[in-house]
Amino acid sequence: GLNGHRHYMHKEIFEQPQAVVDTLEGRIANQEVLVDSFGASAAQVFERISQVQIIACGTSYHAGLVAKYWFEDILRLPCQVEVASEYRYRNPVIANNTLVVTISQSGETADTLAALKQIQALKDSRTELFIPTLTICNVPESSLIRASDLTFLTHAGPEIGVASTKAFTTQLVALALLLVAIGKTQKCLTAHREGLIVKGLIKLPGLISDCLAHEADIKLLAQSFADKHHAIFLGRGTMYPIAMEGALKLKEISYIHAEAYPAGELKHGPLALIDETMPVIAIAPHDELIEKLKSNLQEVSARGGQMIVFEDERSGVSSESNFNVIKATTNVGRITAPITFNIALQLLSYHVALIKGTDVDQPRNLAKSVTVE
Ligand code: M6R
Repeated sequence: GLNGHRHYMHKEIFEQPQAVVDTLEGRIANQEVLVDSFGASAAQVFERISQVQIIACGTSYHAGLVAKYWFEDILRLPCQVEVASEYRYRNPVIANNTLVVTISQSGETADTLAALKQIQALKDSRTELFIPTLTICNVPESSLIRASDLTFLTHAGPEIGVASTKAFTTQLVALALLLVAIGKTQKCLTAHREGLIVKGLIKLPGLISDCLAHEADIKLLAQSFADKHHAIFLGRGTMYPIAMEGALKLKEISYIHAEAYPAGELKHGPLALIDETMPVIAIAPHDELIEKLKSNLQEVSARGGQMIVFEDERSGVSSESNFNVIKATTNVGRITAPITFNIALQLLSYHVALIKGTDVDQPRNLAKSVTVE
């Protein structure tokens, strides 16, 4: 049941601290990631790979995009990410020693499954190739799980709302664990760095709860949205895919047209859209790109754009501007920040949809599991 919540989406948003705890359970011990969480042969596989190809759709694709920033930055491991419906039809080149990672809440998404089967067929016909496959999925015994060499189950629990929330969060946790597991087998991640990442993951449920505590402020913000027809989401680095995810959630459940841009791309076109009727949502963690982002935000506000900024304790946007700012988190960890900021965007979409009176859990035209092409 709904357990006192008005919608499954709301319930699932608030289940996220527990979903993270459950996904970490049995996968870490003494500040270490247990490599065989990905399967008994995971260490042998991870040792040999020299790049990663992630394939997914929708929100699961966005999780993959965040992971690309992590893998390349922290491990210096090449990582490509592609939506399954493009990947499978474009005759892609796949290098030997590539780990193929499919990500899916349901494990039944037709395009993702077809892409994986296509890779399996290639492996069957060219047995000299080493192209191991791994599925990160929320449903045991699903088609994707059955078709993969290695598997990792996110323990988010059943996700009923069509809009994916807790599955996404636990996919990111899984990808962070994968990063450490590959890093330590390839000896390109020190035990110290591993310890820091694991500590961050252990803190994550608390960070998410702190963000959820801002619901009342976010609900207030949502009021300035309900009569809008468009919105722009901005971010840099990992916050760019988080902006994409925020825009997808808003479109999906509130039917407001939303686009995400990497903030540095603004002046290459989208700045022309900005006027007083355009809400611009920026995700502004205190990282090495914050000063550049702040100047992007000034450009938007100079053109009358209505700024809404999610920042952390040290970003300093609120003290330097009169924008609408929500301090969504105290945290700036490389791994935990995108996961935490996303929670604030989930709440924003939810409350906009609530005001608009749309069918939050079952948006028009959409299905929970896209099993047809
Ligand atoms: O079950 P999957 O993760 O494979 O589903 C992929 C997409 O259909 C899904 O994430 C979709 O984009 C969600 N409705 C977004 O909230």
